[in-house]
Amino acid sequence: MSNTNKQNVTVIGLGRMGAALAAAFLDAGHPTTVFNRTPDKAGPLVARGARHAATVAEAVTASELVVVCVLDYPAVRALLEPVADALRGRVLVNLTSGSPEQAREEAAWAAGHGIGYLDGGIMTTPPGIGDSANMILYAGGPGLLQTHRPALEVLADPVDLGADAGLASLYDAGLLGLMWSMFGGWLHSTALTGADGVSAKDFTAVVVRSLGTMAWFMTTYAEQIDAGKYPGDDATLDVHVASIAHLLHAGEKRGIDARLPELHLEMMREAIEAGHGGDSYARIIEAFRPAPR
Ligand SMILES: NC(=O)c1ccc[n+]([C@@H]2O[C@H](COP(=O)([O-])OP(=O)(O)OC[C@H]3O[C@@H](n4cnc5c(N)ncnc54)[C@H](OP(=O)(O)O)[C@@H]3O)[C@@H](O)[C@H]2O)c1
Repeated sequence: MSNTNKQNVTVIGLGRMGAALAAAFLDAGHPTTVFNRTPDKAGPLVARGARHAATVAEAVTASELVVVCVLDYPAVRALLEPVADALRGRVLVNLTSGSPEQAREEAAWAAGHGIGYLDGGIMTTPPGIGDSANMILYAGGPGLLQTHRPALEVLADPVDLGADAGLASLYDAGLLGLMWSMFGGWLHSTALTGADGVSAKDFTAVVVRSLGTMAWFMTTYAEQIDAGKYPGDDATLDVHVASIAHLLHAGEKRGIDARLPELHLEMMREAIEAGHGGDSYARIIEAFRPAPR
């Protein structure tokens, strides 16, 4: 600790995201040491008060809390393997994106060297760093997030997913999938409404309000999924199939690409043909799951 009473932190990797992380630590008054493979990128942060480490070894020994954010896990390992002994007893927070398997492997590597390990998934882009409305998901070393929360919460709201280090990456992958599906649906419907002259801005204002209702549906359906029962109390798959026909018809009249709604229709039809037309939409989860062996 320095006389500012704020924990010393090190940030390794000063690309777009790493530079934003280091800037947020500096803005919050944390004495911050930075390292980047290409040293020039440290310049703007040094101008804001960061200390520049000339080597990775110097960087990791400057702080108990070491944050790494580089391109991928092989780059993390290439940087840190040579300084594993210097990291012993410190806490490594890996905010590099990767797979759950890579995260678990990295956690095992860290444990083997006596290094505390937290894996993180950043749920925003660099301009969103420093804003508590955004989340960083953390998984790994039990208790480490609690201990280092005062420093880590200056980056974004820290969400604790528990001891399995693979979970931040797993959630990250799932949320990326959700984002692309949601963007796809939004762009499809914006093209549909736009064909009759509705501006994207006007339509999107209504879309954003409807997200609250959809969140309510999801919360209800999540309970059905966990229970493995999909009662069609609100709306059945039979009703959804009738509704999607309106969307397909409107799209066809306006020359809108139908691949997305056709995919949804295909999955709904499969479920209905299997005898589940009276179930809720949550039944479609079975279409995504691996086939029973
Ligand atoms: N940008 C986002 O919106 C965002 C959001 C969530 C998560 N992330 C994740 O954050 C991580 C960094 O993303 P970014 O946007 O900051 O990328 P970036 O701007 O391309 O920066 C990449 C960083 O990785 C370093 N690097 C690459 N290969 C290396 C190697 N072999 N050895 C040492 N350093 C190496 C680069 O060093 P040099 O400067 O020397 O090339 C640079 O510091 C990625 O895992 C990304 O998926 C990014």
